[in-house]
Amino acid sequence: MSNNIKGKVVVITGASSGLGEATARLLSGEGATVVLGARRVERLKSLADELTAKGGQALAVPTDVTHCDQVKRLVDAAVQKFGRIDVMINNAGLMPHSPLERLKVDDWDRTIDVNIKGVLYGIAAALPYMKHQKAGHIINVSSVAGHKVTPNGAVYCATKHAVRALSEGLRTEVKPYNIRTTIISPGAVATELPDSVTEPDIAERMHKFYKDVAIPADSFARAVAFAMSQPDDVDVNEILFRPTRQEL
Ligand SMILES: NC(=O)c1ccc[n+]([C@@H]2O[C@H](COP(=O)([O-])OP(=O)(O)OC[C@H]3O[C@@H](n4cnc5c(N)ncnc54)[C@H](OP(=O)(O)O)[C@@H]3O)[C@@H](O)[C@H]2O)c1
Repeated sequence: MSNNIKGKVVVITGASSGLGEATARLLSGEGATVVLGARRVERLKSLADELTAKGGQALAVPTDVTHCDQVKRLVDAAVQKFGRIDVMINNAGLMPHSPLERLKVDDWDRTIDVNIKGVLYGIAAALPYMKHQKAGHIINVSSVAGHKVTPNGAVYCATKHAVRALSEGLRTEVKPYNIRTTIISPGAVATELPDSVTEPDIAERMHKFYKDVAIPADSFARAVAFAMSQPDDVDVNEILFRPTRQEL
């Protein structure tokens, strides 16, 4: 029986670490072809080499998602090499929490550029191909922070609420093209995400919270696989999950 993953061409942004890397590993193991985008090229290449050595198909494409042309190049590379794009996972993101009163305007700009505009650029790159194919699946990564607003997290939470709003708008518009849309909203998952906090006192608290609560990144990868593996007429629109021990 088909797992509805094998043979699919899956583009993943933010594949150089954390959730993206774990997802590339799991999907490649299930027979998907993975096209990996992020800025840290060496890490992307070594992941692609590892997956290829295990018999998978993988391509690493240096990508900064804050540049629309680079995200287009990532998706174009997938289609040129493998003939189509079945799944676009807009996963790249950062979480530089701080109180608004500290006026970390550079952090605000980067968070909005990567977490919102990066997702939009991913949609812009994938949608024309998927419309043409009359098939596809766009998976956008939100967060518990897309459902709740916390102190120090105003900007991050705003970006993750935006991801949910954009995804729901997209869902309602792509029915004529047979495209599925999924929002995945994780709780604390052990990745490098807390390293993106630039304020030392907030970073210390965040690292402690993650150390106490976070679960392994394959939890997210399994949620992706669940959404992908449904029959084509089943569209899993949203998955919200947390570590069992996470209260927030
Ligand atoms: N871990 C959690 O607890 C959690 C919970 C909820 C939601 N999320 C979301 O999950 C997503 C993945 O984060 P993660 O937890 O896996 O953290 P991570 O380990 O820090 O990974 C973040 C990824 O995003 C990439 N990235 C950052 N800026 C980029 C840019 N300008 N262009 C391209 N790629 C960029 C990074 O690659 P390069 O630095 O190599 O570019 C890296 O691969 C994020 O959207 C995050 O908000 C995570």
